[in-house]
Amino acid sequence: MTRMIDLRSDTVTKPSPGMRQAIFNAEVGDDVHGEDPTVNRLQERVAAMLGKEASLFVPSGTMANQVALLAHTRHGDEVILERGSHLFYYEAGGLAAVAGVQPFLLDGRRGIIEAEQVEQSIRFADVHLPPTRLIWIENTHNRGGGTVFPLEKLRAIRSVSLNYSIPLHMDGARLFNACVAADVPPEEYSRQVDSLNFCFSKGLGAPVGSIIAGSAEFITRAHRYRKMLGGGMRQVGILAAAALYALDHNIERLAEDHKNAKRLAGALAELDGVKVVNDPVETNLVYFDVSRTGMNTLELKSESAERGLLVDPISFTTMRAVTHLDVSADDIERAIEVFRTIFKRPGK
Ligand SMILES: Cc1ncc(COP(=O)(O)O)c(C=O)c1O
Repeated sequence: MTRMIDLRSDTVTKPSPGMRQAIFNAEVGDDVHGEDPTVNRLQERVAAMLGKEASLFVPSGTMANQVALLAHTRHGDEVILERGSHLFYYEAGGLAAVAGVQPFLLDGRRGIIEAEQVEQSIRFADVHLPPTRLIWIENTHNRGGGTVFPLEKLRAIRSVSLNYSIPLHMDGARLFNACVAADVPPEEYSRQVDSLNFCFSKGLGAPVGSIIAGSAEFITRAHRYRKMLGGGMRQVGILAAAALYALDHNIERLAEDHKNAKRLAGALAELDGVKVVNDPVETNLVYFDVSRTGMNTLELKSESAERGLLVDPISFTTMRAVTHLDVSADDIERAIEVFRTIFKRPGK
């Protein structure tokens, strides 16, 4: 049987033999006691690479976001963020239920918001108004289409954040996709924000884990909230070892994922009725609308699966295909053939 090609997400990757070896060799200790040498090494390394005082390893991107939110805010505060942000859209209502904060939603262009929009949304001191306590951006922006947050726009938002003394946080779940696509070093993005997080379990290919970085004082608060949410892990050096391996081996290669995503998008765009929503594709996410093909996304999902290709809908009309380190350029050609067969168009 031919292997399934899995374009549902960059979270589906399996640890490579080298990563498994690093996991096998990991020195461990009880991290809740701060005694796991591999976790400590990872946290020191990430803090240094991002130019922050400290960092904290957490089980998931969602926990990273919730912990960061809790560490920056109090119940009843307001957070300015883009409408399609993962924090607002995909975290099961945690923003309201866990952190108890209110979102002030901005409409971005492919997820990118402007400094002017942010400034216009800041509340002044008035008994009727919730205090604006945090500005939140996402880089790359997932629902926006894997959009890289342009550095100049981020700098402009940073100056609003500094002018009004409102902290700025970056959900950088796919930070390294942005760094590789825009050729911007991670510390350059990091310098523009008070705190940030990124995931090891997406394009970097580790099985589990995310990390939050910021000032020592912020990370001390985050540490307490991680414990509160049940995110204190014990001999978790086995996962930190995978994360360290990912930093050593899986960053530069993200360029291949971006190339594969562009190739896929280009071929999809040639199929009758298919529209690439995030054209031009910037990183590893391809969103495409199939509403004019006479087929809905659920039908496409099952037809693709029958032909060895896994791809997920994000609505009845739009599919998302994600490239990652377990998908080769040849797999992408096979995926293109599957789409051509389903849509019965020869293409190029
Ligand atoms: C931008 C962004 N933030 C946070 C997350 C959450 O990560 P996790 O699935 O590890 O909870 C995701 C996951 O896709 C994401 O795309």
